[in-house]
Amino acid sequence: MKTIPLIVAGYGHVGRAFITLLKEKKEDLAVRYGLGFEIMALVKADGSYATGEPLDAASFSRDGKAWTEGNPSWQAGMKVSAAAASVAAGGCLVDCTPSELHSGEPGLSYIQEALDRGLNVATASKGALVVAFRRIMTEASAKGLSVKFSGATAAALPTVDVGMISLAAARIEGIQGVLNGTSNYILTRMGEGLSYADALQVAQSHGIAEPDPSYDVEGLDSAAKLVLIANACLGTDFIMDDVRAGGISGMPADVVRAARAEGKAVKLLAAASPSRKGKGWSLHVGPSVIDPTHPLFHVNGTEKGITFLTDTMGSVTVTGGRSSPRGAAAALLKDLVNIYRQL
Ligand SMILES: NC(=O)c1ccc[n+]([C@@H]2O[C@H](COP(=O)([O-])OP(=O)(O)OC[C@H]3O[C@@H](n4cnc5c(N)ncnc54)[C@H](OP(=O)(O)O)[C@@H]3O)[C@@H](O)[C@H]2O)c1
Repeated sequence: MKTIPLIVAGYGHVGRAFITLLKEKKEDLAVRYGLGFEIMALVKADGSYATGEPLDAASFSRDGKAWTEGNPSWQAGMKVSAAAASVAAGGCLVDCTPSELHSGEPGLSYIQEALDRGLNVATASKGALVVAFRRIMTEASAKGLSVKFSGATAAALPTVDVGMISLAAARIEGIQGVLNGTSNYILTRMGEGLSYADALQVAQSHGIAEPDPSYDVEGLDSAAKLVLIANACLGTDFIMDDVRAGGISGMPADVVRAARAEGKAVKLLAAASPSRKGKGWSLHVGPSVIDPTHPLFHVNGTEKGITFLTDTMGSVTVTGGRSSPRGAAAALLKDLVNIYRQL
């Protein structure tokens, strides 16, 4: 039995779902993989929990909510640098902090701290990696450490694992994805006859779209995922500014209805294509009308999907995967198992 110490950063939807899942899967992980994960520190924006002993949920939450004031385990102001001292080299940072796409913070500093201390990283946050993908990967590789980010690239839908592992030795000649569940849900409802505003409102009332949906509907979330998938699977070094990104915000209903009337569908596609000059790649996110022969045509509602075009394996498509904090938590756990299990 191998016991791996963890530091969890961020105790929001994903951080909480991850901790719950870890508890649920404890016995299964021990039996199937011989792995035990112990949370040695939990870092929030304004302080940390760390006692030098493994933490259990009761030491940092009350009714699932963060329990700070009056809790002997809580240390206001304690930063990740101090909390990480509770985690021995060889352990792992699980990053569930917000995805800030310009500075990459706080994930960028947290990942740097983890690599400096000899920790592997599993992150659900896109921030650090869209800002400094190649630098982080190069440093991790030089130190013999892993940085995994399945949770940042369409949560439970396998994307980078397919491109990097399952398609090994094939040449990837193009990638197309429906990578944002919120936009896809809105487009699906518009195809059923709703206006953009009404479809957005339904999405918000179901908790699918945020009160401020711009990150999803303006194509930024898809663009960030595309940057990470391309950099991982194509060996590129793109940043957000390299993506020609548009979204579905204000999409006219008649465009979606007309597509449907012709038996087609509008999808927010994120695509990596060989650039026109024949060298390198270009990245693009925008609404596209696709017909039923397209492998992503039947990806509806909050579902996502990705298609890889290859030289030797043909077109390979994966669809589905839970779009939720639990799906993201499951992707983090998958990455942890794949970092530490003996194959
Ligand atoms: N929600 C999903 O379905 C989903 C799916 C895939 C990926 N993701 C990604 O997963 C990450 C977390 O998402 P979420 O939905 O859990 O967001 P969230 O509910 O807003 O949680 C983020 C947490 O990070 C904490 N935080 C903020 N600044 C911090 C700092 N400097 N140090 C430590 N903690 C800090 C905040 O907690 P306090 O302010 O209370 O400390 C907050 O609770 C994001 O990057 C998101 O893009 C989310």
